[in-house]
Amino acid sequence: MQSEAALRVACLGGGPAGLYFAIAMKLRDARHEVVVVERNRPYDTFGWGVVLSDETLANLKAADPVSATEIAHGFVYWDDIATHYRGTVARSSGHGFCGIGRKRLLNILQDRARALGVELKFETEIESLEPYKGYDLIVAADGANSRVRTELAHVFRPDIEVRRNKYIWLGTHQRFDDAFTFIFEETDKGWIWAHAYQFEPETATFIVECSEATWRNFGFDAMSQEETLAACERIFAGNLGGNRLMTNARHLRGSAWLNFNRVLCQSWSHENIVLMGDSAATAHFSVGSGTKLALESAIALADYLHTEPTMAAAFERYEEDRRTQVLRLQSAARNSTEWFEDVERYLGLHPVQLNYSLLTRSQRISHENLRQRDKAWLDGAEMWFEEQATGHKPNAARPPMFTPFRLRGMDLKNRVVVSPMAQYKAVDGTPTDWHLVHLAERAKGGAGLVVTEMTCVSPEGRITPGCTGLYAAEHEAAWKRIVDFVHAETDARIAIQLGHSGPKGSTQLGWEEMDAPLPTGNWELLAPSPVPWSPHNQVPREMTRADLQRVVGEYVAAAQMAERAGFDMLEMHYAHGYLLSAFITPLTNRRTDEYGGSLEGRMRFPLELYRAVRAAWPEAKPISVRISASDWVGSHGITPADAVEIARLLKREGVDIIDVSAGQTSIEARPVYGRMFQTPFSDRIRNEVDIATMAVGNITEVDHVNSILMAGRADLVCLARPHLADPYWTLHAAARAGYTGTTWPKPYLAGRDQLYRLAAQAEARAETRAETWAETGTERV
Ligand SMILES: Cc1cc2nc3c(=O)[nH]c(=O)nc-3n(C[C@H](O)[C@H](O)[C@H](O)COP(=O)(O)OP(=O)(O)OC[C@H]3O[C@@H](n4cnc5c(N)ncnc54)[C@H](O)[C@@H]3O)c2cc1C
Ligand SMILES: Cc1cc2nc3c(=O)[nH]c(=O)nc-3n(C[C@H](O)[C@H](O)[C@H](O)COP(=O)(O)O)c2cc1C
Repeated sequence: MQSEAALRVACLGGGPAGLYFAIAMKLRDARHEVVVVERNRPYDTFGWGVVLSDETLANLKAADPVSATEIAHGFVYWDDIATHYRGTVARSSGHGFCGIGRKRLLNILQDRARALGVELKFETEIESLEPYKGYDLIVAADGANSRVRTELAHVFRPDIEVRRNKYIWLGTHQRFDDAFTFIFEETDKGWIWAHAYQFEPETATFIVECSEATWRNFGFDAMSQEETLAACERIFAGNLGGNRLMTNARHLRGSAWLNFNRVLCQSWSHENIVLMGDSAATAHFSVGSGTKLALESAIALADYLHTEPTMAAAFERYEEDRRTQVLRLQSAARNSTEWFEDVERYLGLHPVQLNYSLLTRSQRISHENLRQRDKAWLDGAEMWFEEQATGHKPNAARPPMFTPFRLRGMDLKNRVVVSPMAQYKAVDGTPTDWHLVHLAERAKGGAGLVVTEMTCVSPEGRITPGCTGLYAAEHEAAWKRIVDFVHAETDARIAIQLGHSGPKGSTQLGWEEMDAPLPTGNWELLAPSPVPWSPHNQVPREMTRADLQRVVGEYVAAAQMAERAGFDMLEMHYAHGYLLSAFITPLTNRRTDEYGGSLEGRMRFPLELYRAVRAAWPEAKPISVRISASDWVGSHGITPADAVEIARLLKREGVDIIDVSAGQTSIEARPVYGRMFQTPFSDRIRNEVDIATMAVGNITEVDHVNSILMAGRADLVCLARPHLADPYWTLHAAARAGYTGTTWPKPYLAGRDQLYRLAAQAEARAETRAETWAETGTERV
């Protein structure tokens, strides 16, 4: 670094971060004077074993082969994950972990640091920064409750989130050396579970976790550590083989149960002080990567201090590089933490599905990753899924996406849905040849169900002048032509989405100024309350009783026309800020009569409307309802918890499936976009309300579809934009997966054969490349 002068370095905290940084600095320049200050003695530590991956070990080997060899000797390896649940044990393989005792790891690092000339000061409490002010560099490696970070909280600005569950980190001599083991126990006090893994020949980690309610029901809040151990031994007696549970947290007052703190500092350095490891950011123990982050951060900072021109530049590079890694891991850790916080939602699942959901909980492991890890297990899981779908045992596995699904009398050949998409090509509400070609192409493209765009029940109920309608005989005839084609030429089913634009009506076409009023010829808008969509939109008229009745009549008439046109399913559009959605959300429903107020009041009109349509729609045909499961505005709008209640009310009325969308109800919305970003809402509704759901929103890959279905996060998966880019999305996906069970239009069979041949050749080429890489030892990227 800068003058290439030797530095005087104080590492405050002798955990993995502090010790490894001391080692890394001495390895780069033996002239550095490094001291590590630690409150504990060398042979005490809190905590049991930690898990590291092969990848971390490779990084350690490159950084310091001497300590890496010692660490590798201390490892216990295992490949399987076993889940004990409701008297069953599900076991899958190929996961490749290794564990090491935290004490052993620290002792190896202490010895190595000492050998390199690092001064280790044990039994020294860090009370403040004052005694260390004379050092050139101060590394705050004093863990998740960092004293240094607290002293300088105004500069580091830590964001600390106290997570909901209670956990206690225990050890046992019971062996868990054949698998990383999860044990879920149902008790009269609630569910409680353990994460157990071997870390040395005689000892395993045994972390016990439960919700706060269960914890209180057991009375753990009032128990001593001994009483907690005895209670946990009784709960997990079936898996402990008579072995005791042990604690090494005697330094903690009370029962030693903790809540996990998710820490993320906004700034990681100040003058010559830098945060490292858990003091800067933590990763939940259920993804087991905190030690990895600490060790890899130590390597990175030591590197930058020797390559960058100044300490400030080194801190900047360090923070930029490590923050990216931390954020990636914290995102996976958040998914995993939430899975365990919400686990009681999943404990009704079949053991196969629960295990799949557990394995994919962080969303880092996809369906195809699982196939690579353990093909036999995934084949078994897929066959279980198929048996649920068809009622009979299959001979071979097929991807969940291609399994059939039944709703009332409607059979779908697979789980892919073409999501409703407005085309703005209708003339006075009449669908044109555009709609025939557009919808027919997507029906030919392999999806099980094609849903029309929002089709409006009245001229004023249209969003734009280009929207389709179902309020005139010519509309019915035009729709019938489309439905007849789909039925005659494909085995897809077709649903109509019925809607009324309410306060978001009388606007320009989608590719003009979206949601903006028409330049001329605007029509009057109806809404629950006179609340405009934006300051630039018309103020709608508050609906009277007579208006409500009229709209019900329009919907019933449209449903009757839809039945005569031959549609297989009807979807009611209760989402995205249109009329029914405007009744549901408190953001736009300010009514003081029985159609406003509480959620029950706001749902009154949507439910009355549903009942009327259901009565007019054939018994054998299903109805779905699309909702916005979050207004994305915080607690003053619809929240995911409200969406569960909405779904419960809809289920009570007999709705067959909820199409779980979100947002578009307020210009104030701040959605959190990402891969499959609305799927958690579907998951929650499906598993808390026990109703079929469709997931939608940024689902773009076959892998996403399969993992959503297999984990029980939805029953059907809607794709919108992918189907605009590729009407044949499903057939193309099947060819890539080598799945031959799809039906192609007969005139296209030669194209099908060529596509499968090309896909097989591409696959063979990819395999040969992989083999060549493996033979020549070139790493795959
Ligand atoms: C239940 C549980 C299970 C875990 N399992 C895993 C796992 O399997 N894999 C994994 O990679 N990670 C795991 N972790 C995370 C891992 O333990 C931490 O991320 C890792 O130890 C961070 O290293 P660190 O050096 O930053 O902090 P720490 O390991 O916390 O070290 C900080 C050190 O500073 C000392 N110290 C703190 N304050 C003071 C003070 N005021 N004065 C003097 N000394 C002080 C402490 O005694 C300690 O030795 C787990 C964590 C928990 C809670
Ligand atoms: C061009 C376009 C038009 C849309 N029109 C409708 C519609 O008429 N009704 C509806 O419920 N959603 C509509 N949506 C929303 C989609 O159905 C879907 O929920 C959204 O695009 C997210 O899915 P995706 O990420 O797969 O695109 C439309 C989306 C697009 C891109």
